[in-house]
Amino acid sequence: MRDCNRRIIAPSILASDWSRLKEEIERADTAGADWLHLDVMDGHFVENISFGPQLVAAVRPHTETTLDVHLMITRPDKYLPMFVEAGADRITVHVEADHDVSATLREIRAAGLQAGLALNPVTPIEKVFPFLDEIDLLLVMTVVPGFGGQSFMEKETMPKVAAAREFRDANNLDFHIEVDGGIELETVEIAAAHGANVMVAGTSLFRAPDMAGAISKMRGS
Ligand code: DX5
Ligand code: ZN
Repeated sequence: MRDCNRRIIAPSILASDWSRLKEEIERADTAGADWLHLDVMDGHFVENISFGPQLVAAVRPHTETTLDVHLMITRPDKYLPMFVEAGADRITVHVEADHDVSATLREIRAAGLQAGLALNPVTPIEKVFPFLDEIDLLLVMTVVPGFGGQSFMEKETMPKVAAAREFRDANNLDFHIEVDGGIELETVEIAAAHGANVMVAGTSLFRAPDMAGAISKMRGS
């Protein structure tokens, strides 16, 4: 069983300085990041365009940290092999995207990677229940995906985190619960109190003057 009570801090490079990406990755590593979160956006599933598999491949040689790749794209099934090839450790796909969710999750695991499933703030938690025995991580989006620097949607999303934890424990399942969007020192504690253990944070970590201090405070240590 994985330790779903250990708090994991995953800085999102969306908020890093892309002109110095190698240094930013090293800065996150040195500051004690547990995982690195990479937000892929296609301008179709979400409003924004970020980067694709080539950037994931460019990051890979510079860190041994787990690369937690979040695909905000309409056809994750179609592009999956490119992200596997790029060196992702975990690939998270959206339940709302246009694909056979079970088949995609199976394909991720068949490639030897961990499989994550994400849902948007408007999507009811029941939508992911059929897949919870096929995943390593559930990502409950705490903002409408597309942009960094938005505010944490507590009322809409925390009941879903609590319901996911309840479902997991009642059914003896084993997956991390990750939150993503608007995570800083105050909201990290709210998310943890509801049952999340993986904290993705862009703005509050990469824009912090002291990232190591920010990470250790976020970890609660
Ligand atoms: C939102 C992305 C997030 C984003 C979080 O669309 O999925 O990972 O980088 O950014 P902050 O921490 O700035 O809200
Ligand atoms: Zn993300």
